[in-house]
Formats: sequence, C-alpha cells, structure tokens
Amino acid sequence: MVQVRNLTKTFQTKRGEVTALSHVSLDVHRGEVLVLLGPSGCGKTTLLRCVAGLEHPSSGEISVHGQSVFSSASDTVIPPEKRNLSMVFQSYALWPHMTVAENVGYPLRVSKIDKREIAERVHAVLATTGLEKFGANYPGQLSGGQQQRVALARALVANDGLVLFDEPLSNLDAKVRERLRDELIEMQQQFGFTAIYVTHDQIEAAALAHRIAVMEVGKVAQLGDPVDIFSAPRSRYVADFVGYGNELPGTVAALEGDAVSVQTPIGPMQGVAAGAELKPGAPVAVMFRPEHCEIVDAASAGANIFRGRVEQSIFLGSYLEYRLNIAGQKLAVRSMHATRLANGTELTIAINPRATGVFAAPSGT
Ligand SMILES: Nc1ncnc2c1ncn2[C@@H]1O[C@H](COP(=O)(O)OP(=O)(O)OP(=O)(O)O)[C@@H](O)[C@H]1O
Ligand SMILES: [Mg+2]
Repeated sequence: MVQVRNLTKTFQTKRGEVTALSHVSLDVHRGEVLVLLGPSGCGKTTLLRCVAGLEHPSSGEISVHGQSVFSSASDTVIPPEKRNLSMVFQSYALWPHMTVAENVGYPLRVSKIDKREIAERVHAVLATTGLEKFGANYPGQLSGGQQQRVALARALVANDGLVLFDEPLSNLDAKVRERLRDELIEMQQQFGFTAIYVTHDQIEAAALAHRIAVMEVGKVAQLGDPVDIFSAPRSRYVADFVGYGNELPGTVAALEGDAVSVQTPIGPMQGVAAGAELKPGAPVAVMFRPEHCEIVDAASAGANIFRGRVEQSIFLGSYLEYRLNIAGQKLAVRSMHATRLANGTELTIAINPRATGVFAAPSGT
C-alpha cells in the first residue's frame, strides 16, 4: 500500500541544517495499522507529511497504492490531492460551520465531483459509520466519539482507504482518549482501512498497531509486531521508550547462546542478549520492567534474587510501586498487594532472567 525507500529530509534553518529523516525505509501493508512511535522531534510528523505530499523530501522514494508519488531519482512529485489518501489531524479539524454531511462531502467537492454522486457517496459512508441520523447536525452538537466518526467518514469517503493520523487523540483527557482509541480500533476492524498512525504514547501504540516503527532521531530504531517491540526490544533506546524502567550498568562475564551473565553493581545477573553482538568484558546496560520484579520469600534462591530496602512507596491506583535501594542502586518494583510496606522494610525480589534485557551500553558511557 505504501512503500518508503531511503527517505531523507533536511530542513534549512537559521541554526543550520536539521536532519528530520535519515534514510528511512518501511512498508505499510493493505489493511494494516502501522504506528510511528517516538519522542518529540524524532521525525514522525515529517514522515507522515512526506507521504501525504505536504513536505518535499530531500531524497528517496515513496509509492502509494503501487504508484510512485515521489522519487528524487526520476524527479517525480505527485501533489497531495492526487495521492489518494486522507489525513486526520489533532482534534479532527472538522469545519464547525458545516453540517456533518457537508464536512464529509468536503473532499469530494474539492475534487469537483458531480453533485449527485457526492450525495450518494456521503449517504453511503454516513450509513456505514452509523451516522445516518446526524447528517444535518453541526459538529458542535455531537459527542467526541461521533465527531471522530465524522472525521473518519470524511477521511474514508474520498480515497481507497489509506488514512494518515497525526496524534488525533493527544488533546483529550485520559478517559475520553481511551474510549475513542477503542472505538477507532473497532472501526478499523469494521472497515479494514490502512493507516499510518503517529503517537508518542506507547500504550496507544500497543493497543492500535498491527506493527510499530519506533523512531529515533530521524531513523527507524525497530520495526515489528507490538508484542515483539515490548517484550524483545533490540536496543537500550527502544527498551527505555517502551517502559523498561530499571537500568543497571554492567560488564559481560559470560555468554551462552543469547543467555548472558553480567557483573553489575548489585551482583551477578542473568539476562538475554538483545540486538548487538556482545563479547565478554563488553560494557552493557541491564534493563527490566518494574512489573517483572517479583517480591519473594527471603529464603528464595536462584538467579537474579536480590535484597533491598524500601525507600519510597507510591500508590498508583491498581498497584503499589516501591522504590528500592539495593546495594546503593535505585530500582522500582511493583506489587499488587494492597497493604503498603513501610519505608525501611527489607525485601527480597526476583527478576525473571528471560525478561531481563542486556544491551550494548550507549556509546560515550
Ligand atoms: N518546517 C520545519 N523547519 C525546520 N525544522 C523543522 C520543520 N519541521 C520539523 N522540523 C524539525 O525536524 C525534526 C522532526 O520534527 P517532527 O515535527 O517530524 O517531529 P515529531 O516526531 O512529529 O515531534 P512531535 O512529537 O513533537 O510532534 C525536529 O528537529 C524539528 O525541529
Ligand atoms: Mg509531530
């Protein structure tokens, strides 16, 4: 559906040249939601705008629906309105002075389609999105979920089902956001449209994506199935971004297959080598999620069992998070038990070696 090859985009600014995208290649398959996930400034919007034709890439190739829409090699630039795709922006950008039917028909009117055909297509898309009763309403008279449906109906009416979303839910409060996210998932399953969806929210990404591309300063750091990204990040950067909240410095002691023994400030640890090839003596970052640290009996024995003291406890609604001091290192662990342990309590924790990622240390450390 969409192919991006070797795409680079630099901006000329007063501070000099900014590289927003650097040799990005990826594919989006028909019927798939590909989420671009990454922190502010990593190039998500720029990539989306290049696909949409709103930004002129510096070099590379883009094709949409099998047609080349940009190629620096052959000097091809197809304008946005001829790319057969739609964009949905933050808060949907519906026209407040147009009715639902007028909003949905807008892209068709812009492309000068016959009035009768517009009316038919608008009617059909309103019916399939469950909006047939609201055609004459104004956006201000609709709920958030209905407005989202209008934005989607407008996006779907004019093209072959490719929709680009740039953080459409980012201005909403948590509860509304979750509801609209779930509704979006449902509508995607119903209509099967193809989407590129930009967000910096890892939970939203996990919920919506068929595949996730984690971006790091203009590059794709890792692309894959959400479960792989979250359970097998291949770099320290990706692990950090998807919630591996605990990190210890270490040195590789021994390797066997992907199982690594590491010397760390809290003692020897067992983990799984991820991404780069590691060698004995190599500096590494040992990372794991707070929810993969289990509070165990003090007499427990085995790999990755450590004793520490509670320094702080934070109640986060459905669980308690303890900040532990283990041999001078600060680590976070989660507990589902409702009784809060007092600061100063001694605890024993076990960290699952298979859920412990060992990554090449970031350069410069
Ligand atoms: N029109 C522009 N002129 C100059 N620099 C730009 C322009 N647009 C984007 N950039 C720069 O390109 C980089 C990527 O920006 P982009 O908007 O793609 O990031 P993003 O991942 O969408 O971030 P956010 O999550 O904050 O929206 C940033 O360093 C940004 O400052
Ligand atoms: Mg952006």
